[in-house]
This record gives sequence, structure tokens and C-alpha cells, in this order.
Amino acid sequence: MPLWDVVIIGGGAAGLMCAIEAGKRRRRVLLIEHSNRVGKKILMSGGGRCNFTNLHVMPDNFLSANPHFFKSALARYSPWDFIAMVERHGIAYHEKESGQLFCDQSSKLIVNMLVAECRQAGVRIEVGCKITTVEHTSPGFTLKTSLGAVQASALVVASGGLSIPKMGASGFGYELAKQFGHRILVTRPALVPLTFTEEDLEQYRDLSGIGLLVGVRCSNQYFVGGMLLTHRGISGPAILQISSYWQLSDELEINLLPGADVLAWLTERQRSRPGAELKTVLAEWLPKRLAQRLCELAFGSLPLRQYSPLELRVVAEQLQYWRFYPKGTEGYRTAEVTLGGVNTDELSSVTMASKKVSGLYFIGEVVDVTGHLGGFNFQWAWASGHAAGRAI
Ligand code: FDA
Repeated sequence: MPLWDVVIIGGGAAGLMCAIEAGKRRRRVLLIEHSNRVGKKILMSGGGRCNFTNLHVMPDNFLSANPHFFKSALARYSPWDFIAMVERHGIAYHEKESGQLFCDQSSKLIVNMLVAECRQAGVRIEVGCKITTVEHTSPGFTLKTSLGAVQASALVVASGGLSIPKMGASGFGYELAKQFGHRILVTRPALVPLTFTEEDLEQYRDLSGIGLLVGVRCSNQYFVGGMLLTHRGISGPAILQISSYWQLSDELEINLLPGADVLAWLTERQRSRPGAELKTVLAEWLPKRLAQRLCELAFGSLPLRQYSPLELRVVAEQLQYWRFYPKGTEGYRTAEVTLGGVNTDELSSVTMASKKVSGLYFIGEVVDVTGHLGGFNFQWAWASGHAAGRAI
């Protein structure tokens, strides 16, 4: 039976990075990927251009039951470390907004870079390899796979979360963690569109395709960004961000005109355009069809002169504090990430090693660390993979 220093389960962002680092340290590394190629999520990320990191990585950009766990790994592998690799491979990139770095051309270049680095570090990659059992043997671990049995001194679980099953996502890492006595913190889809109730669906479904800038608040978090009305609910960057904090039956408070003094603006318009209908005036700042629908549903649309100061105040407040109760989320089918996962209290924050089983490591999304939208999830995958790769 072949004996490896390290077997890594999962050829995603975290697994590839870990393989590179361990390989560079002359460890004999086998990386097992069950789907037909490595890096599938990298390929589809950032609309095909991979938002591979963010220049402004801060603890506030991450969610975990332990808000200190991820700090050490992120401090020891910074966005600049990954950028240095990208530049060494001559991959052109640009900053889109708020520190988000994207490839100029294609995500494929990032996958090619990681695979080239693996090759250079002597890593063996096996794709389409199914693992049937994993046992803790002495020494190390024995895995039964579709390619036969393999043995390794160390085992790294980098099998990701539950989002996008058709891209190879599986609950395998959680099951393995449980098998080895680890606790899994409740998992749920995050960075995910939210869905309308039946009543909202009736009222807004035909506005699908409308996009606008909003501020959205839930659970003491507030994000400003784009919102898109879809034929099932709401999506767009601000909604994806808040979805990580939203729980069933929570209210969302949406500001349809963030940064504006809406009452002052409406009062001024009442003076300058007293004969204009409310929907016409609202359409100066909101998409026309949305302005019209809000007037139909909530405000009426009389000439502005007919609204009392109190009524104008109510309109302004409703535009800035639109209360919305999503029915749910679109689930793992479209979620970018999975919240929850392997309990960080049972892992070393320096090496990602299990505190329960010697030689066992967990990295990337399978761990209870989730980043905001904007390159933070890949930075966690690189940093945690690097931490384990350096320790094995
Ligand atoms: P990842 O899911 O990447 O890799 C896990 C690997 O393990 C997969 O290849 C899977 O097939 C394999 N696997 C699972 N079970 C296995 C088993 N039993 N045996 C063997 N292999 C197994 N983040 C970001 O920072 N910027 C971005 O632009 C985007 N964009 C984006 C778009 C979309 C559509 C999605 C779904 C996600 C993103 N993300 C993102 C999130 C990012 O993709 C995610 O956080 C990382 O890929 C997580 O890296 P991991 O290596 O932990 O898991």
C-alpha cells in the first residue's frame, strides 16, 4: 500500500494551497478530488474572473462562533502573499471596488497557476477518485478509494461546504469530522439570494430585472450595495452580504435611497414641482417601474401639493425603512458559501490541526469560518491551506 506523508481530500482553493506548501517542504503529497477536475469553484467564481482576494482583509469581514480563530492564519498569509504568486505567474489583475481583486482575463489562469505550483512542488493529483472509508490506523490514516487503498501520516480535510452540489460540494468533510469526534456547528447557506413570500411574489415578481443601490440592515449589520429584484425574490451584493446574518423570520430593513435626506428632497420638490405626481418625482431617484409600484401599493400618487407634511414624512420613512420579511433563501443550489462547520474550538488556530486526533487537519470552507462577499472567502482558503501546509 503506498504510504504518503500527507493525503489532502478536496482539490479546491484550500486543498491546492495546502498541497503547494507541504510539497515545497518536500512532503510526499497526494491530493484526492472526487470530481473530474480541480478548482471548479475557482473557475466559476467572480463571474469567471475570480475575485481571488481583497486588499482590506479585516476580522470584521469574517463570521465564526469564535471571532478570534481566523486571525493568526490570515495574519501569516496576507493578500500580498497571494498577489505575489499571481504576479510571479504574470497574471494580469485589477481592483474592481473596495479592494476586490479580479483577473483581467479568466479564473482559469488562477487554477492553472495553482496546478503548476503543485506540479513544481511534486504533488500528485488524482481526480475522479472516490473515497469509501477513512480509518485512523497506527500510524496515520488508511483510506479506501476507487484507486485502491492509500496510507498517510497526515490527513487534511479540504472538501469544502455544501454550496453548489452540482460542482462537487458534499457533506463528506462534516461526516468525517463527526467520525473523528468533532462537533459540527449548524450549517446554513450564506451569500445567497432571499425569496419572496407568496404575497410579495404577487406584488413584485413582474419587477424582476430592476436593480438599484440600497442600504440593508439586519442583526446589527448594515451593508450598502446593489440590490436586484428577481422573479423569486431579491439578490445583488447588498442582499448576499446581509443573507449571512439573516435567519428565518428576521426582518430586513431596506433603505431604498441610502445617503439621501429624502424628506428634505420631497419637501423641496413639493415647493418646486407642486403639480407633479408623487410617482413622477420618485422616478427621479428610483427606477420608474418600482416608483410606480410603491405608489400603487403604499403612497398613492397625487400631485405633490396634496400631501401634508406628515404624509410626506411617512413616504420618506417608508422609502428609507422599507420592512421586508423574506420567506427564506434560495438554498445551497445558489449559495456561494456555507455558514457553520467544524467547530474551531477543537482546532489549532496556528496549524488547523485537530486537537482530538493527531495528524488530522481541517482547512477552508469546511471549518466554521465564513467571509463576506468580495474575495474574503478565497483569502481564508489560501491562508488556512497555507497554515496547514506549513505545519504538516
Ligand atoms: P471548495 O469547495 O473550493 O473545494 C472543495 C473540493 O473538495 C471540491 O473540489 C470538491 O469537489 C471536493 N470534494 C468534496 N467532497 C469530496 C470527497 N468526498 N472526496 C474528494 N473530493 C471532495 N469566494 C471568493 O473569495 N471570491 C469569489 O469571487 C467567489 N465567487 C464564488 C462564486 C460562486 C458561484 C461560488 C459557489 C463560490 C464563490 N466563492 C468566492 C466562494 C469560494 O468559492 C469558496 O469559499 C472556496 O472555494 C472554498 O474553498 P475550499 O477549498 O474550502 O472548498
